[in-house]
Amino acid sequence: MKTLKHENKKITVSAPGKLLLLGDHAVVYGNPCLVTAVNYRVFAEVSSFKRDEFIFPDGNKSSFVETALKLFRNTFQIEQKVRVKTWADYKESYGLGSSSAVTVAFVKALAELFSITLSKKELFNLCYDVVLKVQGVGSGFDIAAAIWGGTLYFVTGGKKIKPYTEFIDNLPLVVAYSGSKGNTAELVKKVAQLREEKKDLVNELFAESEWIVNTARDFLIAKSYQSLGLYMNNNHHLLQQFAVSTPKLDELVEAARKAGAYGAKLSGAGGGDCMIAIIPEEKRNDIETALKNAGGTILSVVTNEEGVRIE
Ligand code: MEV
Repeated sequence: MKTLKHENKKITVSAPGKLLLLGDHAVVYGNPCLVTAVNYRVFAEVSSFKRDEFIFPDGNKSSFVETALKLFRNTFQIEQKVRVKTWADYKESYGLGSSSAVTVAFVKALAELFSITLSKKELFNLCYDVVLKVQGVGSGFDIAAAIWGGTLYFVTGGKKIKPYTEFIDNLPLVVAYSGSKGNTAELVKKVAQLREEKKDLVNELFAESEWIVNTARDFLIAKSYQSLGLYMNNNHHLLQQFAVSTPKLDELVEAARKAGAYGAKLSGAGGGDCMIAIIPEEKRNDIETALKNAGGTILSVVTNEEGVRIE
């Protein structure tokens, strides 16, 4: 076991949240998705200390941080105690991936503190392990977005992680929070249950999701947002068939389309959280007003953001 001397080294690392553009849920089952990192960042500060001390924004213990610490210690045979402080520059209930971002920022900060060099893929594997231990389910797309940043084509468990960051600018998106929080683990289990009951139908829908993602990525790269919007609409319809949308999400999606969006869908697990709309910029005000009138909270989001970084 390694024990470091109490150096006065303090490391701060930040990692971005994410928005799932296409492929939600199907990505848990070996299919691809498209994900973009956003400008809502989570921070982790670590230093050596005489005992473990955690300072979390809401005063609660974060199972992601504690599990990550345990796993990191086992993996690298480290017993040094640490002081950990985490915070976010946004409200966690928006569902923009704060758990994955805090896991990535914290593990990267620990690696820096103990001078351990980790490749992006090694960092991914460690953090994905943490997510699976805490949550039991998940594709890992949010961990990849927090590490690589930018906009990624991602296949379950990191089988494929292909950045398209250089081809893409900030996407013309409107993002609205639906006012309630979705429970990812429960919603993933709900789809798993549906798959058990109606395997053929759900596998057909997964195949459709794969086709949507693979076709739409060409439109994303070509900046053909009108066509991308049609695929977002198709993807939302597909997610409705998984029964993970809510009346409020459907209402917001409909409001955005009526006000002139090219396309709109829920983003992520569903059951609440956010919806996204891809838009012609000249309609932004109309679309944002329509979403507010329908009860949504507009989040000012920049996409294609930088991945994990030392501050
Ligand atoms: C949750 O934000 C997105 C899901 O596809 C789960 C996952 O990919 O881990 C529902």
